[in-house]
Amino acid sequence: MQSGTVVSAARDLDGAVAQSSEESTGGVSRRSFLAGGVAAGIGLGLGPLGHVASAFASNAGALSTGDTAILRFLAAAELLETDLWQQYNELGGIQDKERPGGSGSPVYTRALQKLDEDMPQYIHDNTDDEFWHAEFINAYLKSRGAEAVDLDRFRTLPSSEASGAQQIGRLTNLMELSVDTSWWTRYRSDNKNPDFGNSFPPAIPGLLKGKFPAIPRNDKDLHPHEHIQAIANTAGFHFGTIEQGGTSLYPSLAQRVSDPEVLRVLLSIGPTEAMHFQTWHDKAGNAPALTDPTNGLVFPNLNEPPFGGEEFKTNLIMPEATIFIKKSLPVCSIVRPTKTEGAAMGAVKALTADGLFNGHSQEFFEAVKELAIAADAATRE
Ligand SMILES: [Fe+2]
Ligand SMILES: [Fe+2]
Repeated sequence: MQSGTVVSAARDLDGAVAQSSEESTGGVSRRSFLAGGVAAGIGLGLGPLGHVASAFASNAGALSTGDTAILRFLAAAELLETDLWQQYNELGGIQDKERPGGSGSPVYTRALQKLDEDMPQYIHDNTDDEFWHAEFINAYLKSRGAEAVDLDRFRTLPSSEASGAQQIGRLTNLMELSVDTSWWTRYRSDNKNPDFGNSFPPAIPGLLKGKFPAIPRNDKDLHPHEHIQAIANTAGFHFGTIEQGGTSLYPSLAQRVSDPEVLRVLLSIGPTEAMHFQTWHDKAGNAPALTDPTNGLVFPNLNEPPFGGEEFKTNLIMPEATIFIKKSLPVCSIVRPTKTEGAAMGAVKALTADGLFNGHSQEFFEAVKELAIAADAATRE
């Protein structure tokens, strides 16, 4: 997240956030306030036994305002994840009864298989998982009397024109990405942690210096060979970028959940994001070193100078122990970051900076920010 693109995207978003944070009390939360109203009433009745009130409220079926907001933000995040994974699956995964849509791009799929011959299966299964995450969280919200999240009105971004992709409106843009690969060195550091304000160099610096497709935009992108391989390599690193985000998001938000059952939902879904991340972290290291002759994008050999060593070596995929909570404590092998303050907005900013929402209307950004602001306003009761 060190590039100029990232900084300016974050700044744009900050401007809008500052504007809308006041509105959020009246707007967003009106709905969630109504949903959480029953819990609030019970809380008043039991006075100082607030924690008992929360537990009782949970049994009564209603969610607190904060829990509703956290779940609604996660439902939106999962719908966005589902949309991007669906696009990858249509062109490079396995299209079947479980994950219908698309008919595959053999050239792109073969390029992905340079990272691992099982890539189509993994892409299919990651897509499947995101679909069920979104479906479950929305169904769970409804089961607890809260409103599910529907982003269908924002399915307006174009599909790839490459053979194999469905022609439907999308929520995410995989054709203009500036992928932040700093997670690569972040998880290899033994003395830094983003929660202490540290920053990390990207594994693939070139991916922050422009807008690159992670799927073929049309059949012209299938040649020359180094170009489609660079597109597949971009996808391979983007998979890790997305899933490390989910790996941090769930534990970050879980710290402000009140209801034990909602906590169970977050603690049970979050680690599956880590399973995805670990898989993609391993596969990205197999991306062939090359230069895309069409745009100069370089995928360096991460095992050789000026890369290589503890920070870049491709087989160091287990998280290195690093500083956590206080520097005076022993280092620990952990997910990073997990700081809870501003976690939802942080996720929106990172996805925006990566270019995933390029082409969306202001209305889309406002809607997503509104959900993030509400989630970040949640406090543990
Ligand atoms: Fe997910
Ligand atoms: Fe995920």
